[in-house]
Amino acid sequence: NVHALTVHVKDFVFLYILSTVSFYSLVAEVYIPFISSSITHMTRHHPANSCLLPICSLHGAAVTTVEGVGSLKNRINPIQERLAKCHGSQCGFCTPGMVMSMYALLRNHVKPSMEQIISALDGNLCRCTGYRPIIDSYASFAKEQTCCQLRGTGQCCLDQEELGCSSSAGVVIKLFILTFLKTYKSLSFPPQRMAQEQQRKTLIFCSKRTTWISPSTLKELLELKAKYPKAPVVVGNTSLGLNKNDCDDYHPVILHPLRIPEMQVFSITDDGIVVGAACCLAQLRDILMETIPKLPEEKTKIYQALLQQLRTLAGEQIRSMASLGGHIVSRGSAWDLNPILSAGKSVLNLASDGGKRQIFLNDQFLAGHKHADIEPKEVIVSVLIPYSTKDEFISAFRQADRQKNAFSVVNAGLRVLFSPGTDTIVDLSILYGGIGSTTLSARKSCEKLIGRQWNDQMLSEACKLVLEEISLPPSASGGKVEYRRTLLVSFLFRFYLEVLHGLHQMVRTGQELHIRISRQTARNFWFSIYLGIREERDVDPGQSPQDPVGRPIMHQSGIKHTTGEAVYIDDIRPVDGELSLAVVTSVKAHAKIKSIDISEALQVPGVINVITAKDVPGKNGNDEEEAFAKDKVICVGQIICAVVAETLTQAKCGAKKVKIVYEDLQPVLTIKDAIKHNSYITKERKLEKGDIEKGFKSADKIIEGELHMGGQEHFYLETNSVLVIPRMEDKEMDVYVSTQHATDVQKLVASALNLQSNKIMCHTKRVGGAFGGKITKPSFFAVIAAVAANKTGRPVRFALERDMDMLITGGRHPFFGKYKVGFMKDGRIMAADFQCYINGGCTKDESELVIEYIVLKVDNAYNIPNLRVRGHACKTNLPSNTAFRGFGFPQAGLFVETCIVAVATKTGLPHEKVREINMYRGVNRTAFKEKFDAENLWKCWKECLVKSDYHSRNTKVEEFNRKNYWKKKGIAIIPMKFSVGFNATYFHQAGALVHIYLDGSVLVTHGGIELGQGIHTKMLQIASRELKIPLSYIHFCETSSTTVPNGKYTAGSVGTEINARAVQDACQILWKRLDPIRRNNPKGKWEDWVSVSLDVFVSSRGYVTDMNWKTKKGHAFPYFLYGAACSEVEIDCLTGAHKNIRTDIVMDASFSINPAIDIGQIEGAFIQGVGLYTLEEIYFSPEGEQLTLSPDTYKIPAVCDIPEQFHVYLLPNSCNSIAIYSSKGVGEAGFFLGSSVFFAIRDAVAAARKERGLPLDFTLNSPLTVERIRMACDDIFTKMVTVFPFLL
Ligand SMILES: Cc1cc2nc3c(=O)[nH]c(=O)nc-3n(C[C@H](O)[C@H](O)[C@H](O)COP(=O)(O)OP(=O)(O)OC[C@H]3O[C@@H](n4cnc5c(N)ncnc54)[C@H](O)[C@@H]3O)c2cc1C
Ligand code: FES
Repeated sequence: NVHALTVHVKDFVFLYILSTVSFYSLVAEVYIPFISSSITHMTRHHPANSCLLPICSLHGAAVTTVEGVGSLKNRINPIQERLAKCHGSQCGFCTPGMVMSMYALLRNHVKPSMEQIISALDGNLCRCTGYRPIIDSYASFAKEQTCCQLRGTGQCCLDQEELGCSSSAGVVIKLFILTFLKTYKSLSFPPQRMAQEQQRKTLIFCSKRTTWISPSTLKELLELKAKYPKAPVVVGNTSLGLNKNDCDDYHPVILHPLRIPEMQVFSITDDGIVVGAACCLAQLRDILMETIPKLPEEKTKIYQALLQQLRTLAGEQIRSMASLGGHIVSRGSAWDLNPILSAGKSVLNLASDGGKRQIFLNDQFLAGHKHADIEPKEVIVSVLIPYSTKDEFISAFRQADRQKNAFSVVNAGLRVLFSPGTDTIVDLSILYGGIGSTTLSARKSCEKLIGRQWNDQMLSEACKLVLEEISLPPSASGGKVEYRRTLLVSFLFRFYLEVLHGLHQMVRTGQELHIRISRQTARNFWFSIYLGIREERDVDPGQSPQDPVGRPIMHQSGIKHTTGEAVYIDDIRPVDGELSLAVVTSVKAHAKIKSIDISEALQVPGVINVITAKDVPGKNGNDEEEAFAKDKVICVGQIICAVVAETLTQAKCGAKKVKIVYEDLQPVLTIKDAIKHNSYITKERKLEKGDIEKGFKSADKIIEGELHMGGQEHFYLETNSVLVIPRMEDKEMDVYVSTQHATDVQKLVASALNLQSNKIMCHTKRVGGAFGGKITKPSFFAVIAAVAANKTGRPVRFALERDMDMLITGGRHPFFGKYKVGFMKDGRIMAADFQCYINGGCTKDESELVIEYIVLKVDNAYNIPNLRVRGHACKTNLPSNTAFRGFGFPQAGLFVETCIVAVATKTGLPHEKVREINMYRGVNRTAFKEKFDAENLWKCWKECLVKSDYHSRNTKVEEFNRKNYWKKKGIAIIPMKFSVGFNATYFHQAGALVHIYLDGSVLVTHGGIELGQGIHTKMLQIASRELKIPLSYIHFCETSSTTVPNGKYTAGSVGTEINARAVQDACQILWKRLDPIRRNNPKGKWEDWVSVSLDVFVSSRGYVTDMNWKTKKGHAFPYFLYGAACSEVEIDCLTGAHKNIRTDIVMDASFSINPAIDIGQIEGAFIQGVGLYTLEEIYFSPEGEQLTLSPDTYKIPAVCDIPEQFHVYLLPNSCNSIAIYSSKGVGEAGFFLGSSVFFAIRDAVAAARKERGLPLDFTLNSPLTVERIRMACDDIFTKMVTVFPFLL
């Protein structure tokens, strides 16, 4: 009885846009202009997460992927152009997502505010850039007058279009071509879609298992709901869609109400505003922003509270898809709007085929009580959100692990109604999220408080009652029990003060003290406009304008990153006969494998085979690690077998059907366990300097302490991916792989297949982020795919999903350090004894090298005359940890700085004074007798003190802290001596192959791999200088084992410089070969000279280094790099939240080959360091299973985490005679400087503790999360939680 359009869908309804609409699978987002309703007839542009978007929901929408925004084939969009030219991409994997977010914003708002720009990027993650260049480039679209500050002169590129952004006119293209923006015409909504939509037919999509129905009228929807009461009403699919991966979990019928006008309404009524249940949360936010100013303030208290939550709830992509109705009905524990909607007495307008009714969105509805819930055949049509009144106060609170785009740890909605003109409570509602399985109400507590006056006695009674009623057992899921309980009362206190402040204005209670406090507690942190300064050095005025060395040349793939045309492994088009692969991993940390039953898996349609260790014709891994576990598993996540199938879904279903029987063995999981069981990967590494016993004897005081540091996930945006294509002849294989070490991939695949290396061709065009995580691991994934390809004779693609990648690969080593430090009253450290432990996990991997580096680098910038360091790499049953940017130094550095702080605390001296007094001076020797000059260390330090205006800001911080009780500021300045490269010559070798073709074009190849660090861009700059030709003549294609054999891994900050030497040598040889031709034709051009094609392969040996652990002497590192960073933060003592206010970095990059790239590396590494030290936390179950396996649970820094002011300066007048063009490798060094934020937070916590009369010699472990910060600011509320332990 309906006019229906029925479409048969091939597989099942949740086809994802990545695999169907987009040409390049990289596209992360789409925008969908909906003809939103017959009421508004407006087109809205929604950024969306493609992975959650059911394709059927897109009918009637116009979808734009990044290819539609602009491409090199047609024309690039100003959004793409600005991002690329502002150096806003490094590995480029996140870049199309950034473009789409901005594109959606600009389609909705032509001149957005900075707040809107930053909000638009809330849901986008970038692991490389540190966000600052992205914000800088998009700030150019803002309505506020923002300045890119790129030259550090206060001048804006936009104002100087004629001059361009670089003094090197002719080489560097101007930053922004504004005329382009004016002439650029965006796609408009296709008229035929509008016409289709106006026909308003019911749409039915059928697949084998699921029918998707999108009715066009409410009546039809209600009839369908009566017929299919169990059918979900899917709008945004952001709640329901999270279980999409389960092959056995599906809905036979899905109803989609987005085209029903009644569910899209917005109206202002006498009782409040009515919002359609299908309105998305971004629409709700915009409606509230428009409506609030039009209403009397007293009526808008609930709207303001909702708006506050909507500003931080999820990211813009989720806010743009998630509906109000879906939010209310799915009732997630941490959903932010339900507590406040409930406290504000919102009403749900329900409808069914039996009629309409209204129910309250109250605690009983939220608890799912049958009498208060919606019936299966009912839907929510709209929600009435009532006005507040004069005597009413409503507030919302939330605290998450990260300020934005993270589920709340605890949230709250609180409302109080007073008898008119008094402070007597007439009605009270307190609801909390994040505690139970849904929002919980402290109903009984509220009832007991009715009739009470709003005063301190009421508050302490309320806290006690709430802690009793909202129970949270010690074993509660989600952990953080004390912190969460503290937040319950902290929020209550904050509400108390806010109300007191309001009452004071109304009834003048006269409690002045509280009112003063109230002003600072009521405000949440606001993230203001970010200003960045990148102070680069100009090239020599005499340098040829054509010579690009030393200039801020855009990343060679910059534009392609922004258009989505840069190809990563999973973007390579499927090849004929290609199979997908999914792995079966161990669920036990330590066990014998009794049996593997693959019979059921083989029955799954599409499954071709199951591959186990028995199928490996050659060696199953390397000497240290198996590719497939054979008889025993040694960690959760170890690969046991692999299922290959026609599609990935089939392979995953097959993997689920493999049955493995284990016999448990005792696991060792922690460093403590390993010490107890004497479980180590390598022998102890030890260094000694001076006479430690004598040193301790001469000291005035001795302190001892410990530091624990958590590990870190690499969280590269491109997960491990490999495509193996067997060739028809001679058992050759092409391996396309995302790796930092193609030679290792080649070696391991060849040995697994029992072939010579010359049969395996490895290709890596670019890698979507690696940070050390793709040195050793990709070889094993390649072996697995290659064995599968060998067995089936078909190409095999193996691209890990995020959870699998995080489960299997390990990360940075967790660290435990014990220190004993002897020092004088004036702060001089006389002796130190350090014991360092790392958790290496289940195999050796890079752990030996990492512990060696910790021992070698632990002195950082300090000359400790008597020093003993002992290092141990523990062997446990966790996934094997591996290399990570900084390679042990971030752990070692934090450890020694902790000792410095401990000394400063004991002596009462300013921290920077203790640092200065102990810093290396002049020409010196390390503990392993390597000579170096500390002059640039001091230059960086002094420059940083000046640039950051440290001393006067320190005074202001103290002043702020004197005036504020619940908010504190902290400031810290940290010096750094970073050793570049490796402690063995082997790693410093490289090769390059340069071809000059007859037309004069040049192809450069080398052994380094593009990880986002701009290595190829720099190589082209070098070739351009050496061959004296413009950059446009030179091309780089891919890193391949067929062109440059035996490449070493691209890591350790030296990847660029060692390959650069090889490219330079090759080019110089070719230039020499052209000598006679040039002499014969001195007036000729390059093209005239290149009459014969030329090529040359050069294998070059870079730095010679060594470390002799027997003699404890060595020239372990080619050279040292120095830096300093000063950071200022503000913390909220009640919640533990912190805001990064400002960071100034001075880095001794010597002569930078490309300052834009180098500064990008410094900024990106710094923010990654901020992640390690303040945010990123990995949890394991007591059985050794990693629990943080997605961006939901593992938080890397987002846009909201970068300092509001972020300044990077390169030290002038520095040179490095041993590196090419006197440059220095800065890829890793900035990472450790992120610890300046850690110590600034510590400084703020110390200020809070001092004011509360608490001991100052406290230890803070890393990461310094909201939980740790809050609990360290010990106060009456943390005490309340421990005073009533029986309540736990
Ligand atoms: C990455 C991510 C981050 C998030 N972060 C946050 C956050 O920080 N804070 C927060 O509060 N929330 C957060 N959320 C949760 C989000 O708010 C909810 O998932 C969302 O509001 C649900 O709306 P939806 O339209 O997508 O629901 P859907 O998934 O489409 O539907 C959910 C359920 O609601 C039912 N339903 C929907 N509409 C109706 C109706 N009109 N009548 C009857 N039943 C209906 C459906 O049957 C279904 O059972 C996040 C979600 C994701 C995926
Ligand atoms: S450039 Fe953003 S993740 Fe690499």
